[in-house]
Amino acid sequence: MTARLHTVGISKQYDSVTALSPTDLEVQDGEFLTLLGPSGSGKTTLLQIIAGLVEPSGGQLFISGKEATRTAAGERGIGMVFQSYALFPHLSVWENIAYPLRMRKMDKPAIAAAVKDALEMVQMGAYAHRLPRELSGGQQQRIALARCFVYKPSVILLDEPLGALDKKLREHMQSEIRKLHKELGATFIYVTHDQEEALNLSDRICLMNNSRIEQLGTPEDLYDRPASAFSAQFIGYSNLLPGTARRETDGSATLQHARYALPLRSDAKAGEVALVVRPEQAALCSPDDAYLKGAVTEVVFAGSDYRVLVDIGGDEPFLLRCGRRDAPAVGDVVGLRWNAGHTAVVHV
Ligand SMILES: Nc1ncnc2c1ncn2[C@@H]1O[C@H](COP(=O)(O)OP(=O)(O)OP(=O)(O)O)[C@@H](O)[C@H]1O
Ligand SMILES: [Mg+2]
Repeated sequence: MTARLHTVGISKQYDSVTALSPTDLEVQDGEFLTLLGPSGSGKTTLLQIIAGLVEPSGGQLFISGKEATRTAAGERGIGMVFQSYALFPHLSVWENIAYPLRMRKMDKPAIAAAVKDALEMVQMGAYAHRLPRELSGGQQQRIALARCFVYKPSVILLDEPLGALDKKLREHMQSEIRKLHKELGATFIYVTHDQEEALNLSDRICLMNNSRIEQLGTPEDLYDRPASAFSAQFIGYSNLLPGTARRETDGSATLQHARYALPLRSDAKAGEVALVVRPEQAALCSPDDAYLKGAVTEVVFAGSDYRVLVDIGGDEPFLLRCGRRDAPAVGDVVGLRWNAGHTAVVHV
C-alpha cells in the first residue's frame, strides 16, 4: 500500500536558521498523525511545506505516490485549519462555510445541502445566520473546522486549532475532532505542543525537537519506550536516574552511580544512560527493601491521588503518586521500589 503522503529529505533553511532538517516522514491513509514538540521545533514549517504555503529548500513531497513538491497549494487537495480561526468577519456563519464551495463553483442546491451537513456535524445548525463576532471562541473554532471539512478534503492539516480555547472547551473540541476524523475517514496531520492532547487524539505521534524528528510512534510507544531523555521528559513526567549501565556475568544489567546501584531490565545496553521511572511505576516500601531511600519533602493533593516528592540526594526530587490512604507525611523517611522490567533506559 502506498502512503497517503510522504516526504524524502524535505528541509527548510532561512539564511542561518535551520527551520527543518532533512526529514523523511510517511503518513498513512486515514491516519491521525500529530506533530508534537516545543516552540520553534519545526512543526509549522513541516505542515506548511505539506500544504504548499512554504517552499522547501531541499527534498521531495509525494501525495498518493505522485511527486507534489512544486504543485500549487490549491491543487493538492489539502484543507487547513489555523490557530486563529480566520473567519471572514463580514460574512455570516452560513456564508463563511459556503465560501469554499462557491470558489469551487458548486451549484446552489448542492451548496445548501453541504453547508447544512457541515453545520450539523459541528452542532452549530442554530447559528447559521450569526456573524463571527456574535459567537464565542469555541463556536468560531467549530465554524472554522466546518469550513475546512465542508469540501471534504482527503488530507486535513490542523495547526494548533485549539490553542486559544480554555481547558474545558479544548477537551470538548478534542472529542469533536476525534469524531469528525472517524466520520470523514480523512488523513489528519495535527500540530500541538500539548502532550496530553497528542496522547488523546493520535494514532501516531511525531515528536519533533530542534528541527528534526526525535521519535515517531504510537502514543503507547512514546510513553512506554522513550528513545531519548528528551522523549521521556516531553511525554508525561519521568524520574531520570543517571548512571553507567553494566552487564553482569549472570546476564543481568545494573545501573552504577555514586549514590545507588539499581537493577535494569536485562536487555539494557551498556554505557552512560538514564533509567526512566514514571511516577506511577514507583511505590513506597519499607527502607530495607528499597532501591532508593529519602525524606518526603512535599505532599500535594491532586484530586484522585497525591503527588509525593522524595529527596533522593540528587538535583531533582523523585516524584511518585500515592493513593489517598497510603500517602506519607512530609518528613517521613520512605523507601522506593519499582519493577525494573517495566522501566525504560535511554542513552544520554
Ligand atoms: N519565515 C521565517 N523566517 C525565518 N525563520 C523562520 C521563519 N519561519 C520559521 N522560522 C524559524 O524556524 C524555526 C521553526 O519554526 P516553526 O514555526 O516551524 O516552529 P513551531 O514548531 O511551529 O513552533 P511553535 O510551537 O512556536 O509554533 C524557528 O526557529 C523559527 O524562528
Ligand atoms: Mg507553529
